[in-house]
Amino acid sequence: MKRFWMMGPVPKATRIAVTTGIALLSVVAAFTLPAAEPPAAPGSPRAYREHAMAQEGNSERGKKLFSDARALCFQCHTVDGKPVKLGPDLQTVGDKYPRAELIRALLEPSATIMPGYGRTEIETKTGEKFDGILKSVSETELTLVNASLVTNRVQKSEVKTQRSSPISIMPEGVHSGLSLEEFTDLIAYLEVLKQPEMQLANAAGTPSVIKRLAQPVTIVPVHDDSIRFDKPIWFGEHPTLPNVFVVAEQITARVWLLGKRTGGDTKTLFADIRPEATTGEIEGVMSIAFHPQFATNRKFYLIHDLVEGGERAMVVTERIAVADGSVDSGTPSRRIIRIAATTEVHHGGGMVFGPDGFLYIGMGDTGPQEDPLGHGQDLHTLAAKILRIDVNRTEAGRNYAIPIDNPFASRPDPAVRREIWAYGLRQPWRFSFDPMTQDLWVGDVGQNRFEEVSIVRAGENHGWNVYEGFELFSNAFRKEKTPYVPPIVSFRRKHGVSVTGGYVYRARRESSFNGVYVCGDYESRQMWGITQSYGKLQTIREIGNSPAKIVSFGTDRKGELYIVGYDLGVIYKVDFAAAKFE
Ligand code: HEC
Repeated sequence: MKRFWMMGPVPKATRIAVTTGIALLSVVAAFTLPAAEPPAAPGSPRAYREHAMAQEGNSERGKKLFSDARALCFQCHTVDGKPVKLGPDLQTVGDKYPRAELIRALLEPSATIMPGYGRTEIETKTGEKFDGILKSVSETELTLVNASLVTNRVQKSEVKTQRSSPISIMPEGVHSGLSLEEFTDLIAYLEVLKQPEMQLANAAGTPSVIKRLAQPVTIVPVHDDSIRFDKPIWFGEHPTLPNVFVVAEQITARVWLLGKRTGGDTKTLFADIRPEATTGEIEGVMSIAFHPQFATNRKFYLIHDLVEGGERAMVVTERIAVADGSVDSGTPSRRIIRIAATTEVHHGGGMVFGPDGFLYIGMGDTGPQEDPLGHGQDLHTLAAKILRIDVNRTEAGRNYAIPIDNPFASRPDPAVRREIWAYGLRQPWRFSFDPMTQDLWVGDVGQNRFEEVSIVRAGENHGWNVYEGFELFSNAFRKEKTPYVPPIVSFRRKHGVSVTGGYVYRARRESSFNGVYVCGDYESRQMWGITQSYGKLQTIREIGNSPAKIVSFGTDRKGELYIVGYDLGVIYKVDFAAAKFE
């Protein structure tokens, strides 16, 4: 899905499944049998697909073909988890895609393009044209590598237009130089490219098998069927109005109140941010945070994308609701902080008030992929960090203040950003505080191999891009004498491709889930329950499956848990009553 905006790699399965479903339905409805398809023309992509689906192939022979001059796969792809070439590393591609999707990736490379590996086209003011994969974006220049593996650097000030192309850099027709048998062997090889088990065996936090609960949770829509949201992205209970919930939509940049009424649920507009936000497939409104004193000051905060004067950023703004809190007052927003971003991927977007009253903001490495400039390890940038600011005070030309106990507040180097709470995070998309222990649990979306769930404390370095999960990713920005804090869990590709952080369940003390951290995966829709002890994974279970893509979890004031179903536009409640965590 190209619209996938959190930017772990994404399986390409859904579209095919949907088309097949519709085809089957129409056949049943018309009570006719489909006409037998004529045989595939020799040499056509269909002939290759059918052969590779029908025959097993030989992965050993396929491995040789991968490096064969006719296929040239090795020119653009690594298979050892170290993506130093033009295309994505394929070490875990057999976990990521079923066979049919691997075939499709080769036969129709442009059908879906992996986020961060799309083709960017640039025209300069002097009329020069460049295209290629954006490998890095610095203050002053863009670095592109094209299909012939030529690197071009373009000064940002020279760019006239920049757009992303729907045509993949991966060449069309890679099959045409191969026989049917060879193509099938190559597919057989891709299929056996799975995450190595041995190297991870002693990393307790990377489970190979996750047991499913015998009594899983049940998941029920929260609202009447007549109500739908358009790409909802955030959900929570209204801080003062009874039986009223708040839903933010990403692309429409609207915030709605969902009223739970016995005569039928209501949906009313709370705030419309459209004029202020940059929106797109992966851009828009990301989170809302209500001020801890909303009951008296009516303040709430939004974080959204904004491209201004050609410069891309995430901004946090403060708005004020009317006296009864039922709708935005329309008073112009006050900008709190602007966080520069190099591209539209991994642009953060989590935002919560901590138990200390300070605002915590999650910021991603801002792409394109693999953190080419080492934002994760660089304390001079706000990218790839969790930030902590005080919105109740202003100081030194800022619309906020730095809490005096921020871990880097008194560093002698004046260029170190004092807003930083923790660093080395790739895309800390959703995070929350355990209301009892005050641990900050973070779901950090991974690059090629692992999704991470971590407990993050002041000043900690969570490793990106030196580590991904428990594994080494790159030594390019490694600093000596820095302790790297490993995650509690890192998920393998077979479990998911984009983790969505959730909440520690504390709503009912008598529940077997009391104290269990619940999170999930956007794409696989699996949900997990996790317990830990001294930073080490204790128990992990699959607790259920969401009907829709899990873009976010939410809670009500009691701490009951909800799922924001992005693609279906439905909010669900997670019912733990009949489930047992064991
Ligand atoms: C000129 C460079 C180039 C060559 C040669 C090339 N690829 Fe690719 N490949 C890419 C790029 C770039 C992408 C990512 C863009 C996309 O998803 O289409 C990609 C994507 C893929 C994917 C999907 C990966 C994912 O996680 O979604 C697979 C599988 C793949 N290539 C396999 C191959 C095989 C097998 C060969 C040899 C027959 C090959 N590629 C040759 C550049 C190349």
